[in-house]
Amino acid sequence: MQKNYYITSPIYYVNDLPHIGTAYTSIACDVMARFMRMSGFKVRFLTGCDEHGQKVEKSAANKGMDPQSFTDEISPNFRNLSDLLNLSNDDFIRTTEDRHKKGAIFLWNKLLEAGHIYLSKYSGWYSVRDEAFFVEKDLIDGKAPTGAPVEWVEEDSYFFALSKFQDKLLEFYQNNPGFIQPESRKNEVISFVKSGLLDLSVSRTSFKWGIKIPQNPEHVMYVWLDALTNYISALGYPDETDLYKSFWPADVHMVGKDILRFHAVYWPAFLMAAELPCPKRIVAHGWLTIDGEKMSKSLGNVVNPVDLVNEFGLDQTRYFLMREIIFGQDGNFSKEAMRNRVNSELANNIGNLAQRTLAFINKNTGAKVPEIDIIKLYQEDLLSKLPLKIEEYMSFMQMKKFNNALDIVIDITNGANAFIDVEAPWVLRKTDVIRMEQVLYMLIETLRYVAILLLPFMPDSMNKLLDQLNIKNEERLFEYLSSKYALKVGNDLPQPQGIFPRIVPN
Ligand code: MSP
Repeated sequence: MQKNYYITSPIYYVNDLPHIGTAYTSIACDVMARFMRMSGFKVRFLTGCDEHGQKVEKSAANKGMDPQSFTDEISPNFRNLSDLLNLSNDDFIRTTEDRHKKGAIFLWNKLLEAGHIYLSKYSGWYSVRDEAFFVEKDLIDGKAPTGAPVEWVEEDSYFFALSKFQDKLLEFYQNNPGFIQPESRKNEVISFVKSGLLDLSVSRTSFKWGIKIPQNPEHVMYVWLDALTNYISALGYPDETDLYKSFWPADVHMVGKDILRFHAVYWPAFLMAAELPCPKRIVAHGWLTIDGEKMSKSLGNVVNPVDLVNEFGLDQTRYFLMREIIFGQDGNFSKEAMRNRVNSELANNIGNLAQRTLAFINKNTGAKVPEIDIIKLYQEDLLSKLPLKIEEYMSFMQMKKFNNALDIVIDITNGANAFIDVEAPWVLRKTDVIRMEQVLYMLIETLRYVAILLLPFMPDSMNKLLDQLNIKNEERLFEYLSSKYALKVGNDLPQPQGIFPRIVPN
């Protein structure tokens, strides 16, 4: 039976347009979603928008708009990211949709009825930018640890009895050692929980833009309780739909390091309190800086993914972000680094390997896969090393070590480029046509592997390359990476076209 796999991106605040940081999270999810589909899983990939809360209310007010019209105007920019970035998400949820509100209210009532929510008063610090509460000792120089300004808040509030869940959470982390990835972040979370959990304020009364609390409509639900519920409301919760039954608990919530605490502490506590299963894994990635600096509107260095795609190309952008940054760690974005990588790895290495091999075949073998003994060629170095490389690639992908997985592919193409130079098919054409055909076969068979391995990262370009190799759509899966499905001798090979143009500095 086909196994299911549910992966989610965070849902993005609609206070602003998408930027490269949000694009980064979504692309990482998409690469993983495509990888799992190609591995034979039935995948569901969810993304969407986080539309309530004080931050969004303020942004709407700044534009002189009511929050609903404001979110209606901004959220299509996030929905359209799927087309722009070629994201293969199966659903897109907005927290202002009825299906979501229904799920969030149901969960709220469940927590209340089970005695985990009580009414009291909150007084403490609040950061609107982080949509998070802080106590005095959390502040650094009078600001939130993120550097965001805080304001003093005193208001009636419902509380979730988070403190009751401290031991249960610690036990849960212990019993599920793979719950938080990477390991270094897991330790941060565990020490945070060990340091003592305070009950969490889960409703606000000083503004209006949120899901109204049914028992007390003066209160709106705390935006994080509202937002986290999207992962189940999008599956139809509270109804026991087929979707819900097939995909909950989620396999992975992919998040940035800044929102790990909400996902690894609050979310499992809410779920435990509601007697619902917890997600299997939270994966936290690092943050991107731009030319070494924090990205911010005030510095004027915000990179818009639309501009990047227009300047460098879509697959180039997807590739660069997954290749340059060690997933899980902070990393830097610069156009210069992007130009260098795109030119050296995509244009000169992979693109050139494809172009020179296919153009040569087109001219010299009647545009057909050459006639050779496949089994014998699979004993030669270039092809015999592939199974081990695939194993390494697979294990890196499963650990979400995207840059290492790409290293493996680059290693294969480096090997193939060196092989061409050593074998020199342009010489063999005159001296040993049989060897020339063997060499060309090994090269295009290698290209078939390369294209399939790179498909999760660069679906458009690699599908183009697979078209040029005349590989059927249903054979573009990892299970076809073996000699059993080697390129068919005599297959027609269409006229090749370049896939990665060189980027010239402007
Ligand atoms: N709305 C919440 C998430 C709710 S999920 C139930 C939120 N939204 S956000 O729009 O502020 O951020 C969404 C994601 O973008 C986060 O994972 C965050 O880490 C990521 N990034 C925002 N800026 C980033 C960088 N500069 N670099 C990398 N990722 C960054 O938080």
